[in-house]
Amino acid sequence: MLDLIVRNANLPDGRSGLDIAMQGGRIAEVAPQIAATAGEEIDATGCLVTPPFVDPHFHMDATLSLGLPRMNRSGTLLEGIALWGELRPTLTHEALVERAMRYCDLAVSQGLLAIRTHVDTSDPRLVTVEAMIDVRERVKPYIDLQLVAFPQDGYYRAKDGVAALARAVDLGVDVVGGIPHFERTMEDGRLSVEALCRLAAEKGLPVDMHCDETDDPMSRHIETLAAETVRHGLQGRVAGSHLTSMHSMDNYYVSKLIPLIAEAEINVIPNPLINIMLQGRHDTFPKRRGMTRVREMMAAGLNVSFGHDCVMDPWYSMGSGDMLEVGHMAIHVAQMASMEDKVKIFEALTVNSARTMGLQGYGLDKGCNADLVVLQARDAAEALRLKPVRLAVVKRGRVIARTAPRVADLFLDGRPAQVDPASYAPKL
Ligand code: FE2
Repeated sequence: MLDLIVRNANLPDGRSGLDIAMQGGRIAEVAPQIAATAGEEIDATGCLVTPPFVDPHFHMDATLSLGLPRMNRSGTLLEGIALWGELRPTLTHEALVERAMRYCDLAVSQGLLAIRTHVDTSDPRLVTVEAMIDVRERVKPYIDLQLVAFPQDGYYRAKDGVAALARAVDLGVDVVGGIPHFERTMEDGRLSVEALCRLAAEKGLPVDMHCDETDDPMSRHIETLAAETVRHGLQGRVAGSHLTSMHSMDNYYVSKLIPLIAEAEINVIPNPLINIMLQGRHDTFPKRRGMTRVREMMAAGLNVSFGHDCVMDPWYSMGSGDMLEVGHMAIHVAQMASMEDKVKIFEALTVNSARTMGLQGYGLDKGCNADLVVLQARDAAEALRLKPVRLAVVKRGRVIARTAPRVADLFLDGRPAQVDPASYAPKL
């Protein structure tokens, strides 16, 4: 007998009316009306079933610390970094683990089962790294958690930045990070990209840098990152996070840059929520949006995946662990609202992010991991519009979270007794 069958599912690629059978932690079959029986069955009733959401850019060491030791009054990136610098010396292993575990609970409830988190290596105690390694182990049965050694205060700019990052790599982080635009000079930024790519190549690790998270169009470290990626043969294993300066760059230069990024097969990770909040802060009006060039990068064939970046921390007081909130903002900021665009945005929250993280066995095909999410919506476009309830979250063929459908009772004469927000979509 099979372990679990999800019946009458709509898939993100538009196929509908399919059953998904799971056995031994794998997807055994995807077909209409599978005759076999299973220990447990879920009737998806024509709702969307997707592989889990994947967040390729997060800060798990800072999450849920909002208000500690005070609020970010200006709301800027730089006050956020200063505030984190105040909080950092007071961080303890126990508090870091407790907040991260609580966030992971929230993530699971939203069907978010893979997260790449940057972990600050600026405090030579490396309490952040040790705590996140602890969390990675604790959540292993239900979340794929990747750790990036992230020199928040600068690889060269911070005292002991180089040595601390090397120790974090030795402790067992998964990815080498960087922040070239925050080094003291453009030259130091360039040198940091070179050194960190060399380190990653030597250690056999992928790279994921905060790169050019600024409105300064002359911040062009992505160019160096692309060149170093090719030099070290790291194609497909490097990610450029944020890339917001590309919003403000000259179009002619970008026409050269995007093919360079494509040649290096760099995975691009915009963070729409945080960047619409933080960029353009030195502008009066017109005020730049600051998100990188999503539509143009997708058109060039780049692998674009969106990150949540922050949830209730020194940089961002909002956030919910819901990747559909991230996609919802991406649709608005990138102005990508056609049906085809929405499918691409949904892919950026799922399959593209899985590719960025190098996840194995991801997807809804036969033989893939039996990991999936049932949503109270008909299709991917409706999921992005509604940010609907995750009716069931399945990991390796076992239901690990359930939420009751959202249906309102209505008490109006002559009107329906109930309102289901998922019932409003026109048949297109
Ligand atoms: Fe970040």
